[in-house]
Amino acid sequence: MRPSGGLARLGTMRILVLGSGAREHALAYSLSRDESVSEVHVSPGNPGMKAIATLHPDDSNPVGLAQELGVDLVVIGPEIPLVAGVGDELREAGFAVFGPSKAAAQIEGSKAFAKDVMARAGVRTASAESLQPGTWDAEIEATLDRFGPRFVVKDDGLAAGKGVVVTDDRAVARAHIDDVHAAGNPVLLESFLDGPEVSLFCLVDGETVVPLIPAQDFKRVGEGDTGPNTGGMGAYTPLPWLPEDGVQRIVDEVCIPVAKQMAEDGVPYSGLLYAGLAWTSNGPEVIEFNCRFGDPETQPVLQLLDTPLAGVLNAVANGTLAELPPLQWKDGYALTVVLAAEGYPESAKKGGVITGAEAGSEDRGVRAAGVAEKDGALVAAGGRVLNVVGEGATLEEAREKAYATLATIDLPGGHFRKDIALAAVEGKITVPGEGQA
Ligand code: AMP
Ligand code: GLY
Repeated sequence: MRPSGGLARLGTMRILVLGSGAREHALAYSLSRDESVSEVHVSPGNPGMKAIATLHPDDSNPVGLAQELGVDLVVIGPEIPLVAGVGDELREAGFAVFGPSKAAAQIEGSKAFAKDVMARAGVRTASAESLQPGTWDAEIEATLDRFGPRFVVKDDGLAAGKGVVVTDDRAVARAHIDDVHAAGNPVLLESFLDGPEVSLFCLVDGETVVPLIPAQDFKRVGEGDTGPNTGGMGAYTPLPWLPEDGVQRIVDEVCIPVAKQMAEDGVPYSGLLYAGLAWTSNGPEVIEFNCRFGDPETQPVLQLLDTPLAGVLNAVANGTLAELPPLQWKDGYALTVVLAAEGYPESAKKGGVITGAEAGSEDRGVRAAGVAEKDGALVAAGGRVLNVVGEGATLEEAREKAYATLATIDLPGGHFRKDIALAAVEGKITVPGEGQA
């Protein structure tokens, strides 16, 4: 096991990662293995990461912490601090930051902002209508008439994918509208985009766009894509079913136009632009953008990245992405499965004792998320408790490895999906032909 913080290294770069999930664990792990890095700090982090990073559980003052540690780079993991403008505060204090400005983070923080940028950039996306709280019954029903037979009802706030209901049942759609309105939030009704989903992460520095490898996320809690939406129950990369020019098309048709439009609007993007897409009969269409790395897709994507991560993030933060040599990727596939606490996503049970995933289990593929420490053991402290990453020459092998490791980990009442990437392994994912209805 490495000493805490990965000290006593040849590198000189000190990095602070903000966040506490398995995504941040994956980022910190990759950074801890990068020889140009001397120290990896995470705030608040979680105790599952403590073998590879120094943890700073008090995350109330990121600027003060960055100053105290004298870091060379701050990597902001989650959307909440980005949308709140923590990136701007750190930049104003003189730090290099991986993550967009508050203004640019609106691409995730405001669905209206994202739709407006896409409309002006000519990027295909679902059509949408907004319903404010207090809208009359008849108007809600008339709006529902214009959508369907499959309804997409979104809580128009930051809900990390959790405030979305996709249903064929109009009564269920209506009930969700009423719930969101009761909470005082506007609702967005969208047309349903039909086709397999793709998450493509792009490094963006102004108008320079460098894609990572494409991944697929599993949003529903239950096997066969049943049950409520979650933050994501598993993911794999790359996508054997994606057309050969798929990534390039997404870059050309979606990510570059959006980056250019934002630069032109005086809101240049710097950081990770996450395009969540459906591959429909019209090709890629945008479901949503996120202003950060996705969770859990980042875990398998970083598993296959061969280029040391710190230099990549640093190039974006310092505005020199265009000079970065092409990224190098390992052959094969990687896959992650999320172990969730009993009751997730409705009400996750805390306190269950986890065995087989102690801090220092990174090489076995463990990435910790909602965990705390009690009497020297890790216990469940959140909905998505941890992930396991498997890697293999084939997707099937990556799957087998992840599930074999998961079988060595125990959390009473914990649950996970057994079908992550199964349809892809079985060749059952098909891309609709262009021009098909
Ligand atoms: P979001 O929070 O917008 O990412 O939505 C969460 C999940 O709901 C997405 O990953 C999709 O699986 C599904 N979804 C959202 N919007 C649509 C749409 N317009 N068409 C089809 N599926 C959607
Ligand atoms: N995996 C979905 C997200 O990160 O929003």
